[in-house]
Amino acid sequence: MQRPQPDVRKLGLPRVAQGVWAIFKPASFFLDMYPEGEETVEIELIPDIPVAISRNPDFIREIFTGNPDILYAGLGNRILRPIVGDYSVLLLDGARHKRDRKLMTPMFHGNQMRSYGPQIRKIVRDSLAQWPVNEEFAVHEQMQEITLDVILSTVFGVEESELPTFRDALIPFLDYGTNPLFLFVIGTDGTLHRPKMDKMLGPLGYFPKFERVRNNVYAMLQEQIEKFRAGEGNPESMLAQLISARFQDGMGLSDEEIRDELMTMLIAGHETTATSLSWTMGWFEQVPAVRYAIRAEIQEHWTDDGIDLDALGQLKYTFAALKESLRRNPVLPLVIRILQEDVEVAGRKYPKGFGLACSIYGMHHNPEIWEDPFAFRPERFLEHPGKPWHFLPFGGGHRTCLGMSFAYYEMKIAIAEIINRFDWQLADGYTPKMVRRNITLAPAKGMPIKVRPAG
Ligand code: HEM
Repeated sequence: MQRPQPDVRKLGLPRVAQGVWAIFKPASFFLDMYPEGEETVEIELIPDIPVAISRNPDFIREIFTGNPDILYAGLGNRILRPIVGDYSVLLLDGARHKRDRKLMTPMFHGNQMRSYGPQIRKIVRDSLAQWPVNEEFAVHEQMQEITLDVILSTVFGVEESELPTFRDALIPFLDYGTNPLFLFVIGTDGTLHRPKMDKMLGPLGYFPKFERVRNNVYAMLQEQIEKFRAGEGNPESMLAQLISARFQDGMGLSDEEIRDELMTMLIAGHETTATSLSWTMGWFEQVPAVRYAIRAEIQEHWTDDGIDLDALGQLKYTFAALKESLRRNPVLPLVIRILQEDVEVAGRKYPKGFGLACSIYGMHHNPEIWEDPFAFRPERFLEHPGKPWHFLPFGGGHRTCLGMSFAYYEMKIAIAEIINRFDWQLADGYTPKMVRRNITLAPAKGMPIKVRPAG
């Protein structure tokens, strides 16, 4: 068994061309990168960072069931550091990650989700009442507004009247997180490198502007944390729970830790859910039979206030259709672990420092696992739910997305309310195409659609 050598030309292209391929043609990159007959490829997309990208089921299973003290995920997420801060659970590894994740896990349990239901449904219904009828608009933008307000209300505990102030401060900050240019100024350790050109611009430069926007957000969050520490604010919100949660030694989180976890939830839960809902709108337009089957299912659980929140668990077909949308269009193309020791995975040896990436996009379209992988067929999830390493839109193992139930809960409410109210079609001449928005894979042009009252 040979130790694989990362070959910058492995894909038959120089590194720059590989990078251009990965950024501008992500679908083809994640499907066509493998040499004939192989499911794993070792490359060096970024200088000195060798990585194995795999859509092999044994590889992914071994990563998800492997030792988290050897397979560091936080190190692989450093790129998010300028936005989520040093204490984010996304960036932590080892004992500290285990400790903080344990503290946060109960905040995502079923009863907790159910307490957010009426707020989420109200946000969705208020938004839908404003959607323009018979006019083209980018549905992704509407989804972003919904998912932002959901996180602000349920996680940050923001009152309805304060939402505009929070949105105004946060949106410019979030824009950095989705700007592909921002990637180029973040070092591999997650620190920002101010280019010489920018320094010459003094306080008018890009960096000082980023810092002003970030300081503004931090000041606002500090005020919110102090208000909640003083016992004001919604006790059901995640912020109230982050404040009252205690580790085994009786200690709680500091203000900085709470601030970073709030930002983590916003970054991890806002754009991802909005993007997935946008892809779902595209699929349900292209395969109308799915929309009609969902409409029939939700009509059995309709109340004067909208979808019956106690019946969300019974929406089996809707749930399967959401999963199928996440299979065809996973929002994040891969999850990565950085090795802290030499290991052997799926029969190949890798040295310490190597990155091992599970290709979500690649596995979701692996014809060995998924029959007719490009077809949109929710029934497949009713017939065979698949193994956790076959269907991995939320990653897996010790790092599985903490907000998975939250995301499904929110998406079920949103889709039920939309399908009950509207029919829709894609904008004239538009075909959904996948583009990269920093780390996510989103529909080009924000998925333009035209809605009309449901017939
Ligand atoms: C459709 C929506 C979402 C998708 C596709 C998604 C996907 C992911 C993925 C792929 C990971 C990395 C897992 C790994 O490394 O194995 C992750 C981690 C995480 N997600 Fe999500 N996510 C979504 C929604 C949410 C929501 C709504 C929240 C919170 C409100 C959230 C909070 C988190 C957190 C805190 C982590 C870090 C977990 C850890 O490192 O231990 N996510 N998510």
